[in-house]
Amino acid sequence: METILLKGKPVRDAVFAEIKDKVSRAPRKPGLAVVLVGEDPASAVYVRHKEKGCEEVGFHHVTHRLSAETSQGEILDLIANLNADQAIDGILVQLPLPDGIDQELVLTSVDPDKDVDGFHPENLGRLVAGNPRFVPCTPKGILRLLAHYGIAMAGKNVAVVGRSVIVGRPLSLLLSLKRADGNATVTMCHSGTRDLASVTSSADVVVAAIGVPQALGTAEIGKGAVVVDVGINRIDAPDRPKGTRLVGDVDAKALMGHAAALTPVPGGVGPMTIAMLLENTWEAMARKEGLDGNG
Ligand code: GUN
Repeated sequence: METILLKGKPVRDAVFAEIKDKVSRAPRKPGLAVVLVGEDPASAVYVRHKEKGCEEVGFHHVTHRLSAETSQGEILDLIANLNADQAIDGILVQLPLPDGIDQELVLTSVDPDKDVDGFHPENLGRLVAGNPRFVPCTPKGILRLLAHYGIAMAGKNVAVVGRSVIVGRPLSLLLSLKRADGNATVTMCHSGTRDLASVTSSADVVVAAIGVPQALGTAEIGKGAVVVDVGINRIDAPDRPKGTRLVGDVDAKALMGHAAALTPVPGGVGPMTIAMLLENTWEAMARKEGLDGNG
């Protein structure tokens, strides 16, 4: 069986071009503020990608890089200022936050109308209610990617492995909604799932979002399944110039010729997340300015 690679880059490029065009006709630039606390190397890389994306589509953007020693009060003060800043339409607090910072409190302090990550309880609640405002970027990007490649979810059995608030939980909810890109039968698996392979191996679609390198292989994924790999893990690779390489949460090599389709790592889901962040920021601005969404 030939395994089709579901590449994110062409879809991301199309979304970027659409946003760029809308920005060129908009009354003002959408503005995104990113808050990065601490020195997590992976977060620093993600934030740089977000900055580059903003540059590419012509957004106003600011990144607040705070030391790991920043107090919770200082973070909350910064967010209050960003909530009041008319030039800022979207606020993203990069996760994870350092130990000792109450993540829930920080995410709840973001104005729900500027919560382009969709992590505020009000936005998560709207998602549960089936009436989402901001859809979290990675789940939104996964649905867009599957739709682009003509992979319908309606009626499919989908196993989502991972229950994080960033990916697994919102994606499971979205896929179960009665809408064009959902209507699937969803099983959310996690570290407490007994005999994971028995659940995932019969699924039409498996989404791996657990942050464990190459954890799922041919035993966990049925022949002909569609595989969405959300993981971005750096592992040792002595044969590479840098001595490391990026791998996903599935064993991509073993799945070639076994799965019907697979998102590559890197270059699959990752580019879609940034594209959806920019789209959400555009939507925040368009809503505030009373535009119809097309600029
Ligand atoms: N850390 C890993 N993924 C994400 C994301 O999508 N948003 C934020 N804010 N932090 C993250």
